[in-house]
Amino acid sequence: MYYAGIDLGTSAVKLLLMDEKGTIIRIVSREYPIYFPHPGWSEQDPEDWYRETVTGLKELLDNIDRKALRGISFGGQMHGLVAVDDEDRVIRRAILWNDGRSTEACDYLNHTVGKEIISAYTANVAFAGFTAPKLIWMKKYEPELFARIHRIMLPKDYIAWRMTGVHSTDVSDASGMLLLDVKNRRWSDEMCELCGISKGQLPQLFESYEAIGTIRKELAEELGVRRDVIVAAGAGDNAAAAVATGTVEDGSCNLSLGTSGTIFIAQKEFRVDPNNALHSFCDASGAYHLMGCMLSAASCNKWWMDDILKTGNYNAEQQMIKKLGENQVFFLPYLMGERSPHNDPDARATFTGMTMDTTRADMTQAVLEGVTFGLRDSYEVAKSLGLNVTRTKLVGGGARSRLWQTMTANIMNLPVDLLSVEEGPSLGGAMLAATADGVYQSVEEAAKAIVRVETTVEPEPVLAEKYNERYNHFSKIYPAMKELFQELR
Ligand code: XUL
Repeated sequence: MYYAGIDLGTSAVKLLLMDEKGTIIRIVSREYPIYFPHPGWSEQDPEDWYRETVTGLKELLDNIDRKALRGISFGGQMHGLVAVDDEDRVIRRAILWNDGRSTEACDYLNHTVGKEIISAYTANVAFAGFTAPKLIWMKKYEPELFARIHRIMLPKDYIAWRMTGVHSTDVSDASGMLLLDVKNRRWSDEMCELCGISKGQLPQLFESYEAIGTIRKELAEELGVRRDVIVAAGAGDNAAAAVATGTVEDGSCNLSLGTSGTIFIAQKEFRVDPNNALHSFCDASGAYHLMGCMLSAASCNKWWMDDILKTGNYNAEQQMIKKLGENQVFFLPYLMGERSPHNDPDARATFTGMTMDTTRADMTQAVLEGVTFGLRDSYEVAKSLGLNVTRTKLVGGGARSRLWQTMTANIMNLPVDLLSVEEGPSLGGAMLAATADGVYQSVEEAAKAIVRVETTVEPEPVLAEKYNERYNHFSKIYPAMKELFQELR
């Protein structure tokens, strides 16, 4: 039996095929464009997602016993607003998770309505990337388009809808809409009212490991698969990655260095950060998690390598780095503003501390360190809440760098577990499909059967202490710049 996991990412869709024991058969990836129509805005075309997903599925199943495919599910980029009219047409390009246009709507929700009230409704406050402020933005700035909205969806749910005809979402992804009463896992009437929408426009809610339906007849024929292939609801990419890394037990932690950077801490019981710096979301196993999200993580390194240094050889650049824990250069990684913990769309990236002897390697090092210090900012919030994290997993493109693994272990001062298979959301999606199909009784059982830690990178006390000092300096830079960022807005 085969299960397909679809990771609908920001730069590409990654598709993974596994058998019922979790052995990976094939991985395929297909890219699509991202549009930045204004500084700080970020959009994608849902049609591009769907076309590349179906083409990717065909590649994934090429020369494979297609009739053995039993289930499909997802990990998807979160928060994006997909709006569809009553003739099933997408009304405008999707507004993505790292789009900063909705600051005015966030101010309205957080300050006019009030953070306490929004947090009481949803367990979170408004961040520019979340879906509800985007709806308020659309209502004000695109009223004709807003009036045409018949269905509201998240990115992966658009694919599920095209595949099955079922308008659904899962509770982990829905948590990031700011329309969900996270504690009770149901839509919030109050938030719908504040956004000027009705519950009828919202998708039907499922747990991540539940089947929403089966694949449409025409698609089954096009792909050459059985008509009864189930589609499971799936999860937001971070919750799906948590499944793939076995981050399901209370207090277990996963760090992700992808386009975004996240710290994800599983929680058996519902809890809210009183300052709402960390998101309080449902997870994919039926419980909850706290999460901090940086908008630019490995993407900072990509920007520095591709756009500034104009090199494709990331490895060669990293080999020049020798002075761990001693860099005088600091980098604030806020290329798209920042979400956690600052919630400041106006924040910008900066280098600080250069002198005439600063080298290219120092600057590259500062970029990698700046991202990791940014994750530590959210980890400090978790510690201040009394969460006892004792080790962490590490995934995402950045996790493949040996240097970045070492920096992470020492900057966080935590043992970093690296997995034998590091496939994140696509593997998590396939595991959710297998659970929905009854191969595993629960997400925990799937994780126990499939996830294996291969090696651990331990922090080194001397280096961890040096990094602690560096972090103390780093943590003073944003507060010193904050007002200026507002002035430069
Ligand atoms: C999480 C978040 C990002 C996106 C990236 O809150 O915004 O991790 O899901 O795909």
